[in-house]
Amino acid sequence: GLALSAAWARRPAETGDQLVSEVPLPQAFTIPLPLPQVLEPVASAAEGDRYEMVQVETEAEILPGYSTRLWTYNGTFPGPTIESRRGRHVTVAHRNELPVPTVVHLHGGRTPASSDGYPTDLVLPQDWSETAGHGHGGHMADDLAVVTNVQREYGFPLDQRAAMLWYHDHRMDFTAPAIWRGLAGLHFVRDDVEDALDLPRGDHEVPLMIADRAFDSDGQLKYPSLDPTLTGEIGVEERFTAGVLGDAVLVNGAPWPVHEVDSGLYRLRVLNASNARHYELEAVTDTGRRLPLVQIGADQGLLAAPVRHERLPMAPAERYDLLLDLGELPVGSKVRLANRLGEGRMKDVMQFHVVRAGRRAAIPETLATDLPEWDRSEAVAVRDFAFRAGRMNGRHGWVIDGLPFDPNRTDVTTRLGDVEVWRLIADVHHPVHLHLVGFRVLSRGGGAPLPHDAGLKDTIALRPGESAEIITRFDGYRGRYLFHCHNAEHEDMGMMANLEVT
Ligand code: C2O
Ligand code: CU
Ligand code: CU
Repeated sequence: GLALSAAWARRPAETGDQLVSEVPLPQAFTIPLPLPQVLEPVASAAEGDRYEMVQVETEAEILPGYSTRLWTYNGTFPGPTIESRRGRHVTVAHRNELPVPTVVHLHGGRTPASSDGYPTDLVLPQDWSETAGHGHGGHMADDLAVVTNVQREYGFPLDQRAAMLWYHDHRMDFTAPAIWRGLAGLHFVRDDVEDALDLPRGDHEVPLMIADRAFDSDGQLKYPSLDPTLTGEIGVEERFTAGVLGDAVLVNGAPWPVHEVDSGLYRLRVLNASNARHYELEAVTDTGRRLPLVQIGADQGLLAAPVRHERLPMAPAERYDLLLDLGELPVGSKVRLANRLGEGRMKDVMQFHVVRAGRRAAIPETLATDLPEWDRSEAVAVRDFAFRAGRMNGRHGWVIDGLPFDPNRTDVTTRLGDVEVWRLIADVHHPVHLHLVGFRVLSRGGGAPLPHDAGLKDTIALRPGESAEIITRFDGYRGRYLFHCHNAEHEDMGMMANLEVT
């Protein structure tokens, strides 16, 4: 763990370029942590649940005294949380009332390709569908004649392990600004394996969506798009091509919040929903004591056994399922969730304030027994992919094996059920994400995986110059899927490829 921390801490700036807010940012640990609302289904039957969401522009008070325009699912940022059970079908009908087309992807979902949110599979806004093909200039005008849906249903079989997934926008070339403006929410899958464990529940299970943002002089979100309307020119200003970093840390949409807790055991479901910022989390008491972050799960669900971390690196799109034991702290204690990689105010994330005595609870020493174990010898293919800087549309961009994303090119064809080993190599930080499957990390930098590589992942954070091997079985569904860098600016600037499962 220590070697990793040092290497990461030396290069914080390489994950992006810093925006500077033009309004005073609030004092840390004064605003209460918001908890996203759990969405009620509009209909439930034996086979599953149906939900409705409307994508709308909303104003919200993120900074005290300022009203900030957001793009939201159902009017909130984060969007509403969906709670579902393994194998129980979920339908989400999305209606788009935003000024631009959108795409919804359930990140970490084992989803049929038709509902996976392919980047050109658009939900059009009302006025675009009425004027399809006219007047909108942008390079997507050609596609408009064939897609005229303002509403669409996404279907999720959710035949997968319990995990915290998240849904977010995935429109080709415009994912980064859309997520930045607020299009992200959480989706939990529960199962019997998880239920059988004695883990903290109810208000002792706390979702934390961490995302950095910056604000202009009116308190509006600042984002250096070439075209702020997001209908025309693709990408960000040249100096932000490494990725866009804000100077305020939001947790569940609130800047540096405080959460009142008791001195019991908490389960933290953490997502790094930032476009480009990496964090290295640690929990420190007001007496300077570091509390262990006990990892019990990764992107794709519970580990076999807990892993204790002093610090935990977290790249965009990664999730960690953590236990934080406050059981020895006197009432009145404050525990800071800090970020070792940040400078200045970015060193803080949020604070837990112990306001009452809680119940002691034990940390289970064995967890899930349903983790897939694939062996190298099962692999029918070994593939190499290089994630590097390159050119896209004549500008600086990011490429996989020399090529920027092209929705009309099949980059990889794999057969349903096959086990494969992928060797990934990166020039700078690239969090690499595969749709459809979870994978195990076989090696990193030619050596053993790191402690935080444990479990089943869907995103792996490659460090500068580093290679890693992952192994997976392409299970589930046939069709066209994606793999890409989840630095959202890199993704928009070409670092994505098609994976055809046949
Ligand atoms: Cu979180 Cu392809 O995305
Ligand atoms: Cu995904
Ligand atoms: Cu990248």
